[in-house]
Formats: sequence, structure tokens, C-alpha cells
Amino acid sequence: MTIKEIKEKLESTLTHKRFVHSLGTSDVAGRLAELYGTDKKKAEIAGLLHDCAKELTLAEMQKNVEQEGIQVDAAVLKRRALLHGPAGSVLAKTLYGVYDKEIVQAIYFHTTGRPDMTTLEKIVFLSDYIEPSRDFPGVDQLREKAEENLDEAVMAAYNSTIKYLLDSGEYIYELTFLARNDLILKKGK
Ligand SMILES: [Fe+2]
Ligand SMILES: [Fe+2]
Repeated sequence: MTIKEIKEKLESTLTHKRFVHSLGTSDVAGRLAELYGTDKKKAEIAGLLHDCAKELTLAEMQKNVEQEGIQVDAAVLKRRALLHGPAGSVLAKTLYGVYDKEIVQAIYFHTTGRPDMTTLEKIVFLSDYIEPSRDFPGVDQLREKAEENLDEAVMAAYNSTIKYLLDSGEYIYELTFLARNDLILKKGK
């Protein structure tokens, strides 16, 4: 599928708001990829498709990952907010014909992150957070940081996500802590 075809298909399956969010994520990801010297086209495609499974029901997401033989923790399997990453990585292949491993992984981990993230994974994670339709206190500082230092910006995004989840009494998936700590341990190395 060409990028144009991917966009058309996405537009017909996502809400308008989510489609705009996906376009924004793709644009920012492409720009950051250029800035940090990684594949621009892969970043744009991963940005476009990162939320491609987000409109599915939980049962549909579960079916998707099961069919593909993907093993996820019980905690992930029960939450659309976490499962749409793995489910999206399946749809990227089955519905959009995108098999590139790096792109598929970036979609898989875009919500939780993980230790040892690739530059592409960091870029998609961060672009999702700061794309132009996002509006929350501190987003502009984060946008500036994203242009200056990728790791610091990703860490700031983790910190703010974890604080938000703590404050709202939500479940926090352990991979997010591990991802954040991994960046701290590697800082300055
Ligand atoms: Fe997402
Ligand atoms: Fe998103």
C-alpha cells in the first residue's frame, strides 16, 4: 500500500479526531526522524498506523493478537488502552500490508514503551504525545525538548504519564517503569 492508500483506508476506519491525530503523529514523527537520523518514511508510516486498532472492541483486539499467536500479559489483554498497540501491530500487517519489523515494533510498543527502545520507537512514542492536536499543560516545553534531546523528551513524557496515572489511581504497566528507568540508567553514557 502507498502512503496515500493507507491514509484513505485509515480515514474510513477511524473517527475524524483520531484520523487527524494520526496525521499529526505521522508529520511530527517524520520531522523527528530527519532530525535524529533515522528512516523518515518508516517513521511516517508508523505514526500514521500507531492507533489503527484503537476503534476495535476489546474482544476484537483479543482475537487479533490471539490469531497472530502474540502472547501478552493478562493485564494488557484486559485493557484496550494497552492492547491497541499489539493489536495495531497485527492490523498493520493484515490490513495495511506493512510487514517491516521496525515499523511493526514501533506500533506494538507505542503506548507502553520498553527498555532498549530503538530511535524509531522513541520517535513514534513521543510524536503520539506531542503532535499538534495534543493540548495539556507543559506540551509546548515538551515540543521544544523534542527538538533538542530525544532521550530527555521521551523521559519527560514517561514522567508525566506515570504522574498522571498515579494521580488518577490508574493501573500502571510495569514495562513503562522499566522503560523510564532504562533511560535514566543510560543517561550520559
Ligand atoms: Fe495509542
Ligand atoms: Fe495515539
